[in-house]
Amino acid sequence: MKFIISLNILFITICTWANQPLLQNNYLRNGQSLNGRWHYIVDVYESGYFNYRMEPHDGTENPGSSAFFLNKKPKNKTDRIEYDFDAAPTMNVPGDWNSQKEKLFYYEGTVWYKKSFNVENYDASKRYYVHFGAVNYRADVYLNGKKLGAHVGGFTPFNFEMTHLLQEKDNFLIVKVDNKRATDEVPTLSTDWWNYGGITRDVTIYGLEATFIEDYKIQLTKNKNDEVSGYIQLNGVDKGAQNVNITIPELKINKSFLTDKNGFVSVRFPVKRVTYWSDTNPKLYEVTIAIAKDKVTDKIGFRTIETKGKEILLNGKKIFLKGISIHEENVMRGGRAWSMEDAKVLLGWAKELGCNYVRLAHYPHNENMIRLADQMGILVWEEIPVYWTIQWTNAETYQKAETQLTELIQRDKNRASSIIWSMANETPTSKERLTFLTKLATKARALDDTRLISAALEDHGKKEDQNIMIVEDEFAEVVDVLSFNQYYGWYGGEIDNIKNIRWEIDIDKPVIISEFGAGALQGYHADNMTRWSEEFQELLYEETLPTLAKIPGISGITPWTLVDFRSPRRTLLPYQDGWNRKGLISETGNKKKAFYTLKEFYKNIE
Ligand code: GCU
Repeated sequence: MKFIISLNILFITICTWANQPLLQNNYLRNGQSLNGRWHYIVDVYESGYFNYRMEPHDGTENPGSSAFFLNKKPKNKTDRIEYDFDAAPTMNVPGDWNSQKEKLFYYEGTVWYKKSFNVENYDASKRYYVHFGAVNYRADVYLNGKKLGAHVGGFTPFNFEMTHLLQEKDNFLIVKVDNKRATDEVPTLSTDWWNYGGITRDVTIYGLEATFIEDYKIQLTKNKNDEVSGYIQLNGVDKGAQNVNITIPELKINKSFLTDKNGFVSVRFPVKRVTYWSDTNPKLYEVTIAIAKDKVTDKIGFRTIETKGKEILLNGKKIFLKGISIHEENVMRGGRAWSMEDAKVLLGWAKELGCNYVRLAHYPHNENMIRLADQMGILVWEEIPVYWTIQWTNAETYQKAETQLTELIQRDKNRASSIIWSMANETPTSKERLTFLTKLATKARALDDTRLISAALEDHGKKEDQNIMIVEDEFAEVVDVLSFNQYYGWYGGEIDNIKNIRWEIDIDKPVIISEFGAGALQGYHADNMTRWSEEFQELLYEETLPTLAKIPGISGITPWTLVDFRSPRRTLLPYQDGWNRKGLISETGNKKKAFYTLKEFYKNIE
């Protein structure tokens, strides 16, 4: 009998963990923030998770169990408990541990976090969720000593229902965070960015009605600028045959729909006299979705994005994407960016450059970035960290990539500013990699047929003439926009030969140069043939920009990159010292000469 019961528990547990649909509108709901100081214990040997035989603690109260997630306290002065969160130090959440604690600057491993809390306005009739903006890289989440679930992937949101374990007072939420890299993960072992570990984005509790609005998509129908379509998904016992009301007051829309037995309903309705969202007029409409006991109001921009031959059309008009690449780092404060203030710094600099477009490299950034881009009229390339040498033949690795892609699209599918889903960056061509990426692209199009698919590919010189650059990559047939990184003059090729370079692109698609650039130590001045000087970086921009402008179908560029960023690969003293110096701005916020070269180019571009 015991065996059967344990199988049931296992099944319920897996279902509970696995089927945790993402709350679409957490951002605009009134939640209880758990941001602030959390106790933490660094657990290099994961002794809080495994016993001395490396078997997972079973979480029961047996005396030998030192499972940290139990948050046990000695019952008397003789008891042996070899951990105590309340005696442990604290750190800020959100925030990576590397930039907060000097001893953890290079740390890759497990850190346990604990937060005690009472529920504000506790209501026993509500359903309670805990939502994480992201945890890098793996999170095992426990409430009051019991497992809520686990999540893998360092840059996408997730949430768990905790109604069954929550009490009004004296709760403790414990998270085991492990940021160890591994060959079968996404990203894999090698990246050119810092492996910031921790609870790196907001943690929030939501008390929701027994039946609530879990998800929705409200966008212009693909290639139609006079029709909105999408869906509403409810969650809860009464989700079936529920009346759902959608209002967009400024468009005089007030529509009702009835959900099916699964709480789902497709929506489609005409819209007239729409002010389309654009980079020059980022119009957002208040969209309210209401059911009997729940209501959410989002701000949604309506626009079309499509390609036509070698052009990208925004609302049917050709657009040139004046962009810049950005890593998710607030170098002024140090560490992972996560707040609206951080987003304002980064996108403010992009705007100062004259950008109408950014490439959020190489992973999904925090939700503040995409929501601020909606407000500022900045178009966005979003990407999952299928970066360099991923394990193409590993089915679990593919599933991790697809899950991160799904979570990204799930989160941002209503954001007008998001126009491109990028499947990968600089991945070596092979049959297996083509299969892997094509499957991802198919999944992305199934989830969202309104946005463009791309990936940062690579170019190289023709055998017979190294001054002619080509892109030989079968994935170019799959994408909507042909994008590639090109570093002529920095990684190979002579800077004074850039003017003689040209590209042979024999594909009828728009072209985006997803990266080019050079490293410079801000404040280091020399002649323009001296590598690492600001003058060398400036010359590379002066030579490269007019050359790129000649590429047939050039529709955008995102030079690499906005700001210097930390990377363990960049050790050269005195120039790098652990920083990738291809930023146009230094880690102290000082602009380099090439910043003004790019700014001038964008100002003068047609
Ligand atoms: C690559 C890669 C970036 C990297 C950059 C560089 O193209 O995409 O992640 O930082 O080049 O070498 O600086």
